[in-house]
Amino acid sequence: MPQKELRIGLVGYGFMGRTHSNGYKRANDFFDLAYRPVLKAVCGRNADKTKAFAEQWGYESTESDWKKLIARDDIDAVDICTPNDTHAEIAIAAAEAGKMILCEKPLARTTAESKPMVDAVEKAGVPNTVYYNYRRLPAVTLAKQIVDSGKLGKIFHYRANFLQDWTISEDLPQGGEGLWRLDAAAAGSGVTGDLLAHCIDTAMWLNGGISDVSAMTETFIKQREHVATGKKQEVTIDDACLFHCHFANGSLGLFESTRYARGHKALYTFEINGADASIRWDLHDLNRLEYFDHRDEGIVRGWRNIHVSDGDQPYMGNWWVPGLCVGYEHSFVHQIADFLKSLETGEACHPTFRDAYETAKVCDAVLASAKDRAWKDTGVEWAEK
Ligand SMILES: NC(=O)c1ccc[n+]([C@@H]2O[C@H](COP(=O)([O-])OP(=O)(O)OC[C@H]3O[C@@H](n4cnc5c(N)ncnc54)[C@H](O)[C@@H]3O)[C@@H](O)[C@H]2O)c1
Repeated sequence: MPQKELRIGLVGYGFMGRTHSNGYKRANDFFDLAYRPVLKAVCGRNADKTKAFAEQWGYESTESDWKKLIARDDIDAVDICTPNDTHAEIAIAAAEAGKMILCEKPLARTTAESKPMVDAVEKAGVPNTVYYNYRRLPAVTLAKQIVDSGKLGKIFHYRANFLQDWTISEDLPQGGEGLWRLDAAAAGSGVTGDLLAHCIDTAMWLNGGISDVSAMTETFIKQREHVATGKKQEVTIDDACLFHCHFANGSLGLFESTRYARGHKALYTFEINGADASIRWDLHDLNRLEYFDHRDEGIVRGWRNIHVSDGDQPYMGNWWVPGLCVGYEHSFVHQIADFLKSLETGEACHPTFRDAYETAKVCDAVLASAKDRAWKDTGVEWAEK
């Protein structure tokens, strides 16, 4: 197929800068696409590190100011891989310059900051997507197919956890490279925007809109040294968050996230219970989907462990041979392949900025509920995606 270039300008070369760069390099090797990403420029504030990243990953050029990157005529799409406090300014400027935008999650720190981003991309009419990448792990996409097929019957329960343990030490400072997640000024919130946002995106994709929430949050370590000042400062992120909720379809949701669950590094799990069947998934065993069907014959009824690796299962026909697995990084390859495909078809690549804005509404309602110790309506408008 003749290919059109999609010239990428990447902002931020940390963890996500690497996963996205890998995705741009791999997508066309495995998917038949009309567009081919070209790694045109990477932008970072440290010239030496940016140059080293460009050499390692094959970017043609570097910039030290994202405004200059956006002003370039040879950039078609801006990819935002910087901390949450920078997303809005970069995205709005990129949209106004007519660039396509691929943005990391959460869309921004709050709904108030997110809304002008949605308005900007919709006014400019530029293709956009937000990297809620877990949707595109084959087992999670299969979960979506199973839910949409109606096999679960009427859904009663949705349960999700995202557990980590990396902030338990009191000596860990807040702020700066790598630790901006502990600084509310940069991150917006703690586990709610960082981890539960993923759980909420997947949940609403699989089970529809969340109507109202009741939450509790805790900040276990109240003060940490701030990298910028060298002084102990109040910690204002949520270290842990638990909430329950109603979905618009009448089912009940239960969500928990913490960075204080000793022994857990990135345990994202979800389970859905319907009248006829249930499914559950675990990021630590990401190629498997467990499925229980009450309609099975009694003597063999039980949880099936589906190894999602066959050619007729989502995305897997594009990879190796049946039975062989893919990994975490493939969720990004798939999102980029789907984004490139969306440019061919003219259809949106979900989750869009607008979808991510709905997730932000739930996050804000969760934090407000915890603060006021009261149920909060989310105001979510969730159509089938
Ligand atoms: N989809 C996912 O699963 C996932 C996973 C991790 C992080 N994220 C999101 O990705 C974003 C980045 O997180 P990360 O883990 O890659 O962080 P990181 O700290 O590893 O990298 C952030 C990068 O941004 C750079 N940066 C900061 N301010 C900048 C500026 N003004 N101009 C240019 N570069 C700047 C930093 O130097 C660094 O290179 C965050 O929004 C985060 O929530 C998403």
